[in-house]
Amino acid sequence: MVEDISFHLFDLVQNAVSAGARVVRLEMREAGDGDGLEIEVADDGRGMDERTLRKAQDPFFTSKRFKKVGLGIPLLKATAEVCGGDFSISSRPGEGTSVRTRLRRGHLDCPPLGDLEGTLLTLMTTLEGIDLRFSYRSPGGAFSVSSAEARGQAGSLPLSHPDVQRFLKEFIHEGLAPLLGPPS
Ligand SMILES: Nc1ncnc2c1ncn2[C@@H]1O[C@H](COP(=O)(O)OP(=O)(O)O)[C@@H](O)[C@H]1O
Ligand SMILES: [Mg+2]
Repeated sequence: MVEDISFHLFDLVQNAVSAGARVVRLEMREAGDGDGLEIEVADDGRGMDERTLRKAQDPFFTSKRFKKVGLGIPLLKATAEVCGGDFSISSRPGEGTSVRTRLRRGHLDCPPLGDLEGTLLTLMTTLEGIDLRFSYRSPGGAFSVSSAEARGQAGSLPLSHPDVQRFLKEFIHEGLAPLLGPPS
């Protein structure tokens, strides 16, 4: 299994979707020191009670019937901790969940960013009926895109339509590539 940051983002958004979220905010901020990366994924899904929240951080718990061992929240938490960052999750039943993590990109044990552009495109074009609101801020600039906004632009075509996908892919690339620099 290849673990990278984009993979974790994908998983966090999928968790939000599984929890019935309609709006998922995915925000990434680079720190001014060029090393820190702060990530927040916040949703308006069903949330978790205290017991579930505690269990969600336990590597042996899942509410799914078939657990792919080694994935999910506990791995992200462990990764953040070994790479000199931190991790926190807060949730309220009926209101939603927010996961925040800070990573030190320069740390030897910090996984690479992975394919952020491709991950974002996949999420936007496959999550029907969900508004994914993505933003990326770095000292050099900012980029944001949302599914609701993209649907407005696409008119009657679904975001999964090949022409819309091509347009979105280009839009995401033009917005993100200058902020991300060469792949890590
Ligand atoms: N955003 C969320 N909203 C509500 N429950 C969540 C959320 N994220 C995680 N959970 C709960 O925590 C459990 C563990 O999540 P995770 O570690 O990603 O493993 P998995 O998704 O494989 O079950 C989920 O099965 C779910 O019960
Ligand atoms: Mg999961």
